[in-house]
Amino acid sequence: MLPLAFSLSRQIILGRRNILRYWHKPPARMSALLINQPQYSWLKDLGLKEENEGVYNGTWGGRGEVVTSYCPANNEPIARVRQMPAPKRGEIVRQIGEALRQKIQILGNLVSLEMGKILVEGVGEVQEYVDICDYAVGLSRMIGGPILPSERPGHALIEQWNPLGLVGIITAFNFPVAVYGWNNAIALICGNVCLWKGAPTTPLISVAVTRIVAKVLEDNNLPGAICSMTCGGADIGTAMAKDERVDLLSFTGSTQVGKLVSVMVQERFGRSLLELGGNNAIIVFEDADLSLVIPSALFAAVGTAGQRCTTARRLFLHESIHDEVVDKLKKAYAQIRIGNPWDSNVLYGPVHTKQAVNMFLGAVEDAKKQGGIVVCGGKTIDRPGNYVEPTIVTGLDHDASVVHRETFAPILYVLKFKNEDEVYTWNNEVKHGLSSSIFTKDLGRIFRWLGPKGSDCGIVNVNIPTSGAEIGGAFGGEKHTGGGRESGGDSWKQYMRRSTCTINYSKDLPLAQGIKFQ
Ligand code: UN1
Repeated sequence: MLPLAFSLSRQIILGRRNILRYWHKPPARMSALLINQPQYSWLKDLGLKEENEGVYNGTWGGRGEVVTSYCPANNEPIARVRQMPAPKRGEIVRQIGEALRQKIQILGNLVSLEMGKILVEGVGEVQEYVDICDYAVGLSRMIGGPILPSERPGHALIEQWNPLGLVGIITAFNFPVAVYGWNNAIALICGNVCLWKGAPTTPLISVAVTRIVAKVLEDNNLPGAICSMTCGGADIGTAMAKDERVDLLSFTGSTQVGKLVSVMVQERFGRSLLELGGNNAIIVFEDADLSLVIPSALFAAVGTAGQRCTTARRLFLHESIHDEVVDKLKKAYAQIRIGNPWDSNVLYGPVHTKQAVNMFLGAVEDAKKQGGIVVCGGKTIDRPGNYVEPTIVTGLDHDASVVHRETFAPILYVLKFKNEDEVYTWNNEVKHGLSSSIFTKDLGRIFRWLGPKGSDCGIVNVNIPTSGAEIGGAFGGEKHTGGGRESGGDSWKQYMRRSTCTINYSKDLPLAQGIKFQ
């Protein structure tokens, strides 16, 4: 299914300043393309064609120079958005949310087709974009700073927030719609323009979403370049990271690449917003309600075939319930309905690429070498596509190197613990700090978990899985997860610059700190 989907986009032209690149592949027979088959005719309703141009800046094309031509700070798209009152920008975002709602099912279809996640999850992440649009509409009437009491008579002290200009957005294959949505909706109401580069393996989604957003802009007589898009790989990402005109670069991807990106941006004193890897743990205490634990662990470890940055990779079980929970989990794993992600009955589809299959196999081998026992899964599945078995490994030490490494695949390391102190320490001993959950009924434990000696992650949950966060709360994590916050909370501040403004409306010039300078 996927290779054919890709052949749809085989002629996408990758843009980069002054460089014109093509995917050099022999032309496929047009009749073999999915888009020409009746059951995929909905692809046309997303504006997709047999061949799709992969660059948009108000017009569709393939030359990189058209992408960057709009960037200089005082050019039209930036000026147009800046001069609009924020609630008017909110109205545009409201219409974007509405346009996405109309196409939510077929956009979800495309996410599933191109990325490989199951259909409900594909639709779910378009829903996240719709939700953040609603959120951003409200925000467009609320953003702003306080008026503070000045120590000087006849003075006003005001915190003023202004747009940054151009926000570059680089997203990953695993959430090819939602993560763009989080950035796009909030960046827009803050008065910025966007340049988006999706993952090289999910170009059709980038094209389809951009077509929807572009129509809303055009219908409002606004330049389409306000939401520009370019397909491409690391070379394009590097160009965006190094370009002084990109005021904020929001990057979602691996810690390894995120580090390179953040250094490039920092070198020019640009701003970055990083959403990198996670090595998320679920901790189950002896008093936990196991009827919540088993479905939570299943969703967090197996959902999206283990390819969420919030996927649970470590499951700490109190020694008194270890065997019972492993037993129950094994039974639950045996019932996972594996198959075509498009089949509404299926819960578990393929991983995204062959490379992911190899990473999975490598991690299973390493786990065995380090003393792990594969109690479930561990192999590839003999069917076409990149299918691997949902896998549980027990018997490893909490600090085994394979446990401390994020493998973006459905492998759950089950580890035993004796007491709260050690397990909270173990939760925090990995490099990443994205998401974490405990299962308990003990109030003291819950508040210690939320407090200074508890989880050091950006997402700290109780009695729910590590994955599946809603858009209202800021999303992101600490340490090697990069420190960025997207989506809700006060993340809008990252898309704006703050000025402290002091206005003297008196006839005197008193100085702060009581200084007399006469
Ligand atoms: C990601 O995996 O990159 O909390 C984002 C979640 C989703 C977002 C995941 N709302 O699992």
